[in-house]
Amino acid sequence: VAPLRVGIAGLGTVGAAVVRLIEEQARTLSARSGRGIRVVAVTARSKAKKRTLDLRGIDWVKSPLALANNPRIDCFVELMGGSGEPALSAIEAALKNGKSVVTANKALIAKHGLRLARAAEKHGGALNFEAAVGAAIPVIKTLREGLAGTGVNRVYGILNGTCNYILTRMEQEGLSFAECLKDAQRLGYAEANPSFDVDGHDTAQKLAILASLAFGTKVAQSAVYVEGISSIAPEDLRAADELGYRVKLLGVAVRTPKGIEQRVHPTMVPKSSSIAQVMGVTNAVTIDGEGIPAITLVGPGAGGAATASAVVADIADVARGIRAKPFGRPVDRLRDTKKAPMERH
Ligand code: HSE
Repeated sequence: VAPLRVGIAGLGTVGAAVVRLIEEQARTLSARSGRGIRVVAVTARSKAKKRTLDLRGIDWVKSPLALANNPRIDCFVELMGGSGEPALSAIEAALKNGKSVVTANKALIAKHGLRLARAAEKHGGALNFEAAVGAAIPVIKTLREGLAGTGVNRVYGILNGTCNYILTRMEQEGLSFAECLKDAQRLGYAEANPSFDVDGHDTAQKLAILASLAFGTKVAQSAVYVEGISSIAPEDLRAADELGYRVKLLGVAVRTPKGIEQRVHPTMVPKSSSIAQVMGVTNAVTIDGEGIPAITLVGPGAGGAATASAVVADIADVARGIRAKPFGRPVDRLRDTKKAPMERH
């Protein structure tokens, strides 16, 4: 079988890690997916930028759109980020060309996911976004495929590695918020605009995607109540500690009699609870199903290697010929938690 020809748009922390992982794991990938996987073309904002990456033998294409229209690639991998252009038009073009698309872009999937899913289904390509939530944790597959037969009552967890890293270091070392954020940026965990992390929007995007898969709702970031962690100080964490609690930024989507409620806010959790044990850049997602309470997935939630792991798994699915239906048909009612007062649970 001819190898799957991959084009990558974006060579930042994640893009570079994906190129390296495909190279390093070439034999394993080919054995597992029954087909070789080869990066044949790339594009990025600056060609001149110094990179440690070896791009010999890989074509440089001038723009994401040109890459999406390149007949030499079968699979378009979008790792540029941003909820709009140029990622959106490039993905649409790739899908229209019948190519499969793999993306780690939660902002874009949260905003345009259902529309892109329809385009993928119409033209026969895959639209895979496992890396958009929980980085290396296979949570999309778990909800969509693994729990396809299970009614979900609640899905919640720690969905932003940067925030959990900041809260952990503030608590353990008494460092300031600003200092911890700087380290999260240096380690490649934070978004290009870190306000997306610390103000809770990144968590809200991920939660909206999970809620859509768990409950069959529209992906609606706009209906999520959001509060971030930027006003939390080490003293607040000390006060919580004295009372036997830790503070975690949680995303919670839950079935209520009035519809599916979605919220993101710092939460005091008892130190003895399992979610309180989740430290550093780690993410955790718990799914409460009908008759199957508390399936919890825990793992690295941000960073180049962790995100690349999920991106490459999605590429391997394309190589295998798997075309998962990206989202189900919306069935459940959403409750606008931004406007309506919240229920207590
Ligand atoms: N900035 C994100 C985080 C990256 O810290 O979780 C992974 O989506």
